Amino acid sequence: MSFNPFLEKPVPIEETFLNWNKLYPAPYCRETVDPYTKCRVILMNGTEFEAQWFSRNFSRHCSDNELRRQLAMVRRVEQQQQKRISCLKPKEETILEHTISYEQLAVDLTCVLAKQETDCNVINALNLALLEDFDHLYRYSNLLHLEYGIYPEKLVGRYTEITPGRPTISEHRYPKDSIFPPIQNQGASLQTKLNVNIITAAEQQTMNYYMNVANLYQVSDIGRRIYQEIGMIEEEHVSQYESLMDPRATWLESLLLHEYTECYLYYSCMMTECDPSIRRIWEDCLTQEISHLHMAKELLWKYEQKEYQQVVGEGTLPEILALRPNIQYVRKVLETTAGNTQKKECVVPIGTLGKDDPFYLYQSKVNLPQDSVPTHEIIDRHIRCCGCDYRYETAPSPIPSLRSRTCDNIALGRIAEQTPAFTSACGTTENACRCNLTAVRD
Ligand SMILES: [Fe+2]
Ligand SMILES: [Fe+2]
Ligand SMILES: [Fe+2]
Ligand SMILES: [Fe+2]
Repeated sequence: MSFNPFLEKPVPIEETFLNWNKLYPAPYCRETVDPYTKCRVILMNGTEFEAQWFSRNFSRHCSDNELRRQLAMVRRVEQQQQKRISCLKPKEETILEHTISYEQLAVDLTCVLAKQETDCNVINALNLALLEDFDHLYRYSNLLHLEYGIYPEKLVGRYTEITPGRPTISEHRYPKDSIFPPIQNQGASLQTKLNVNIITAAEQQTMNYYMNVANLYQVSDIGRRIYQEIGMIEEEHVSQYESLMDPRATWLESLLLHEYTECYLYYSCMMTECDPSIRRIWEDCLTQEISHLHMAKELLWKYEQKEYQQVVGEGTLPEILALRPNIQYVRKVLETTAGNTQKKECVVPIGTLGKDDPFYLYQSKVNLPQDSVPTHEIIDRHIRCCGCDYRYETAPSPIPSLRSRTCDNIALGRIAEQTPAFTSACGTTENACRCNLTAVRD
């Protein structure tokens, strides 16, 4: 069923303000909620955060007060949406349990986007970060199991495996190696533009969450330190993904694409939501976004004399985004690309870096002494305490050197001699990768 938000009749924005009762929803039930409902709540909270900060930055760079007033109208509603959605998380759900859902979302959202992506540059970026968030899920799960005695596999509904990915210690790269070439304005498909917008907002939400909660984690110092370390990787991920965005888009073109992305996501959430009361919230939000989109369309015409079709084509939404398990996809990416890293604008096997590459300089700055790298230490502690690490696997790891339950692998993807020679999806270290190699698919 196709849906074009430009063909819907928009409700006036002043009619969409909510009172305090409506702003505070009944939260989902921690015991019975579907794991992907929790992921959708995090995704849309992050999308609204991006809407908020994009609008604020737009306003700070705009000298036309009439335009700034229009932005303020829309922004107030985005703020209400964020408030309403974020309180769907129940009080009893701890910071760390919520974190497990953050990393599950990162894994399964990245997979879904990579599978529907056609730009190999974007696929490489997605697959690179996928294995890293996958590893974060494993590290936080060991923390949760050790400190709360909770089995994280229950929280993720066994939809997602919990086992080592690219070890987090190997993910700390030199900052200059986190910039990809931007997607091309005319050449990029609508799906690619949406994918880049969606994943940037989602990873940014994760980065912000860890920035805010590291010091609120009350159980232990090791927990706070893990949030610090993994938060630094999310910083890398946001740099990577936002570098893909088209920097030539004007503020108003970007506003239109933001509102269109919100329409796409709320429509997708509405069509896939299994909780009826939360589904009604997605419906309400879609109605609000249609109003925003029509306002953005009018502003684009008024100030730049551009039609919305120049940004998003005729406007019918692509196939909906449905969160679902991607166990085989993750296994295949792990098997074929775990030893990859980023060099300048390309994804390359670690073995292609020279001995004096800045990757090693940065690694030696942040990762020494190795025993005190928090994401490594938590696995060591779990092994010491319980005899082995915590995992949830449907089969042994596709990488033999990640199979030990009693010794944490901190060499893969970091020490070339101890990393199997993988074939990178992208063979060149020169210029922007525009190679035509097929992506890893199910
Ligand atoms: Fe919104
Ligand atoms: Fe992550
Ligand atoms: Fe991430
Ligand atoms: Fe919006």
